[in-house]
Amino acid sequence: MNILILGSGGREHSLAWAVNQNPKCDRLIVAPGNAGIAAVADCADIDVMDGAAVVELAEGASVDLVIVGPEAPLAAGVADDLRAAGFSVFGPSAAAAQLEASKAFTHEICDAAGAPMAEWARFSQAGAAKEYVRAQGAPIVVKADGLAAGKGVVVAEDVATACAAIDEMFGGIFGDAGAEVVIEEFMGGEEASFFVLCDGETVLPFGTAQDHKRVGESDTGPNTGGMGAYSPAPVLTEAVQAQVLDRIIRPTVAEMARRGTPFQGVLYAGLMIEDGRARLVEYNVRFGDPECQVLMMRLGAQVLDLLQACAEGRLAGMTVNWAGDHALTVVMAANGYPGAYEKDSLIGGLGGLPEDSFQMTFHAGTTEQDGKVVATGGRVLNVTARGASLAEAHARAYAMVDALDWPGGFCRRDIGWRAL
Ligand code: AMP
Ligand code: GLY
Repeated sequence: MNILILGSGGREHSLAWAVNQNPKCDRLIVAPGNAGIAAVADCADIDVMDGAAVVELAEGASVDLVIVGPEAPLAAGVADDLRAAGFSVFGPSAAAAQLEASKAFTHEICDAAGAPMAEWARFSQAGAAKEYVRAQGAPIVVKADGLAAGKGVVVAEDVATACAAIDEMFGGIFGDAGAEVVIEEFMGGEEASFFVLCDGETVLPFGTAQDHKRVGESDTGPNTGGMGAYSPAPVLTEAVQAQVLDRIIRPTVAEMARRGTPFQGVLYAGLMIEDGRARLVEYNVRFGDPECQVLMMRLGAQVLDLLQACAEGRLAGMTVNWAGDHALTVVMAANGYPGAYEKDSLIGGLGGLPEDSFQMTFHAGTTEQDGKVVATGGRVLNVTARGASLAEAHARAYAMVDALDWPGGFCRRDIGWRAL
């Protein structure tokens, strides 16, 4: 098979790494890719938001399956363009990607499906939104309706902060994404991520993980794209997973199908669990980054068979073979991230790190310059390890971190603290 993966982050490196291990994979192309991905795939420097360019690349390489990594091309309809041209694609249509691209849409679907979320209201005017916030009181959560690269959510401790966020969003800091604002009840509890594959009808549980969104240790400081993750997430017990499937995920998938916009791809449920009761925080319509890295580490080559079956509507009867192990990934970011960060610093020591089915360093924002790897993004490396226990995975991953020589980068030292 010839396979094309769209994206350039650690998520896509881990997907490429797992897919490439499957003997069915003849040729692997990643667009645009990065310095680490170039070791396992051919990188094609195209704009993945340009559906026509993606179709042209897929045609030129006689691609049998396209795997779409990030949400932006999905929301822009690139999967639709590929399907219209006859390609098999892992990833939802633009209509189904609304589950991530519009927070109000997700609330409407979940209300129709009876799936528990926070109490909510939507506004297109700042005055009415602020009036609602004053009536509800704090803490309260203010969200730009549309895609805002993970930055469109303000968890406000007081009414003044919430009102300031409303003014900023309607003032246009997120462009069109903030033309509507969703205000939600603050939910307490522990967050975790649950992934399922869905071919429009059949739902196949695909693992659990926990991310670390804050930049600082003990979950302090500003939000980031994610500073580290581990899988499985013990808070998602078998009982909680069954509850999430029955009350949240299956009703959502059925409602999407009923509306004529079936969901196909990976559905990522961000959950808040309090006293054994799970509520949905949000859906994403793609793998989490860095959660994907720990899932791929645990699953390896079978990922290709599963994603292909999903794209071809054959999930019924498929099973995921778990090894009963644990994986943990530490994100190394450039100094300054998530604010303005250093660029082009040299990363030393990569060549000395083990790369096997237990330990892998996935690249995110890296580029090769004159045979050397330099940091060109905010999140740069995902130092990932598997172990028989989470403690073993943790020790292996941090031993790799300590073997790197990169003064231009930093990481959190406490990834996994809730479970350890
Ligand atoms: P999102 O961009 O929707 O993932 O939101 C970012 C983060 O904000 C989530 O991971 C939660 O930590 C937090 N958050 C979002 N909505 C709520 C809510 N209703 N109650 C509490 N925390 C929330
Ligand atoms: N790690 C969080 C996300 O991918 O949205």
